[in-house]
Amino acid sequence: MAQLKTTFAGLALNNPVIISSSGLTDSAAKIKKLEDAGAGAVVLKSVFEEQIAMQAGSMHGYGSPEANDYLGAYVRSHALNGHISLIKEVKDVCGIPVIASINCYSSNEWADFAKTLEEAGADALELNILSLQTGKDDAYGSFEQRHIDILKRIKAVVKVPVIMKLGNNLTNPVTLINQLHANGAEGVVLFNRFYQPDINTDSLSLSCSNVLSSPYELADRVRWIAIASAKVPRLAYAVSGGVNTGKDIVKAVLAGASATEVCSAVYRFGNKVIGEMKDELSRWMDEKGYETLEQFRGRVNAQALGDEVGPFERTQFMRYYGGYEE
Ligand SMILES: Cc1cc2nc3c(=O)[nH]c(=O)nc-3n(C[C@H](O)[C@H](O)[C@H](O)COP(=O)(O)O)c2cc1C
Repeated sequence: MAQLKTTFAGLALNNPVIISSSGLTDSAAKIKKLEDAGAGAVVLKSVFEEQIAMQAGSMHGYGSPEANDYLGAYVRSHALNGHISLIKEVKDVCGIPVIASINCYSSNEWADFAKTLEEAGADALELNILSLQTGKDDAYGSFEQRHIDILKRIKAVVKVPVIMKLGNNLTNPVTLINQLHANGAEGVVLFNRFYQPDINTDSLSLSCSNVLSSPYELADRVRWIAIASAKVPRLAYAVSGGVNTGKDIVKAVLAGASATEVCSAVYRFGNKVIGEMKDELSRWMDEKGYETLEQFRGRVNAQALGDEVGPFERTQFMRYYGGYEE
């Protein structure tokens, strides 16, 4: 009988289905239902740097710089209070690991906030520094360095595992992942998903296209986990993006992941999809004779295929697209 237990970034999970940061995880009542439906862990809705900065900034202009600083600090701590209460409420009613999520961009102040979230009871922190890089004078590598600087500052003050959720706009994710590992990150999630803009051809204005992901987005995640898990093996990986079925979890684990973060599938199909995914994963394991996830984790990563990256890049491009005809 298949055992779905796994360890991700030092957290013991009953199964590899983590519900990822989103509106699905913004209340204790919703999270309790996700736990009852069989989720292995949850990542709370992110607390956003801009949200806090905006609220703190709106308090400026109230007299002396000292008064503004004081008010700014008050508003920041107040904005975090909602998040702290959420962690405490969830820890009171749920037994699954609770990962707090911080969406940060500058390396200031987040160390204090991270410490506060840890003290509130978060079992781990997930940091995301998602941002399009558009400055024409930006130095190459400065965005990647920002990840490392923020991680270092947060690692200096917290003891819980720190997980980095990366965007797919990095020059070389493997170099960054290696540096994140060297600086103490316990886990990496590939990839966060940018807001997808669209253009309305009637009003000639910008609109928002697919809020939810497509299953096709899984392939890029599988590729990078398969490469990164071969090159930086002592780090825990999770796939985020396009995980909809138990077979998708199988693919993630074969590529080298220890867990998956799932969001769009739950929005689309409801909490019952969690059980369906786990059932399909168990059935596949039984058919293949695997009793644990560890027995097949990384079985189809770049190293297992006998080549560091060849099967995932240029030569395959020539092979598959070279002779493609309708
Ligand atoms: C409505 C919605 C809200 C989201 N909010 C957050 C968030 O606060 N923080 C975050 O890191 N990711 C957020 N995400 C991204 C998801 O956590 C996830 O990484 C992404 O949707 C890809 O996974 P999926 O294909 O399973 O949806 C959000 C996604 C959606 C659809």
